[in-house]
Amino acid sequence: MKVTVVGAGAVGATCADNIARRELAHELVLLDIKEGLAEGKAQDMMQTAQLLGFDTKIVGSTNDYSKTAGSDVVVITSGIPRKPGMTREELIGTNAGIVKTVATSILEHSPDAIIIVISNPMDTMTYLALQATGLPKHRIIGMGGTLDSSRFRYQLSQHLGCSPGDLNALVVGGHGDTTMIPLINHATWNSIPVTSLLSAEQQEKVVADTMVGGATLTKLIGTSAWYAPGAAGAMLVESILRDEKKLQTCCVKLDGEYGQSDICLGVPVVIGRKGWEKIVDIKLSDDEQAAFNKSADAVRNMNDVLKTL
Ligand code: 2OP
Repeated sequence: MKVTVVGAGAVGATCADNIARRELAHELVLLDIKEGLAEGKAQDMMQTAQLLGFDTKIVGSTNDYSKTAGSDVVVITSGIPRKPGMTREELIGTNAGIVKTVATSILEHSPDAIIIVISNPMDTMTYLALQATGLPKHRIIGMGGTLDSSRFRYQLSQHLGCSPGDLNALVVGGHGDTTMIPLINHATWNSIPVTSLLSAEQQEKVVADTMVGGATLTKLIGTSAWYAPGAAGAMLVESILRDEKKLQTCCVKLDGEYGQSDICLGVPVVIGRKGWEKIVDIKLSDDEQAAFNKSADAVRNMNDVLKTL
């Protein structure tokens, strides 16, 4: 198996590091436009191979797409990250051109690749990647909801004093501070509804803190987070390459599901060797569906900005 990670910044490098440590691929290519960055990080990671006990061969390259040829999965992390006070949406002007170029260049060398999009604004970048490549919809997956759901579990675990691994909790909708929808009424701690264990105030706080999870970290660190985004990308790579059929929230093209069309938005999907293989329909309440529709409106407005660039 061969995987390419485009963008050797903090998210891309962390994603690559996770992929290598878990030996998800035989060959891993790290690509970046900045001279020497990907080569340097790839060598640094290769120098951990003996220490960590992995055998994945990591190759770094400055923008030489021929090195990525024959990749089974490609993770796109390219573009600028947000700074404190910025929304993900403000990145569209710069990142749209980058993601379009990367997605089309990748396909020239890896026509069968499944593409995972991490670049922000993620919902619009996923939609753009789909439009720019014309790939079958099952082969383009936006990562956001996987990350947001993991952050949701972290917030719940802090209030419940439990292991995040014992929680089932999904965030659907957009990957934006105001567009994501943590589905607290569906969340469980090993089958026990969390709503029966947390006060209304606690539930509100968990939801609010989840929604600004990325912004909170950006403020603390001074730039966008990378450990969880990178790990979320690697987890999707794993589910694809090992055909695990994991149920994750991912941003995918909707054709009437959840009442929406001509948009890529976060919904629960099964991730396997063919990409996202099916959308799972959670019965949303009227309020949840209304929030989902509002989220779709906001993402659609952002997608419309693509026409003006
Ligand atoms: C985040 O939420 C990178 O969008 C990503 O941290």
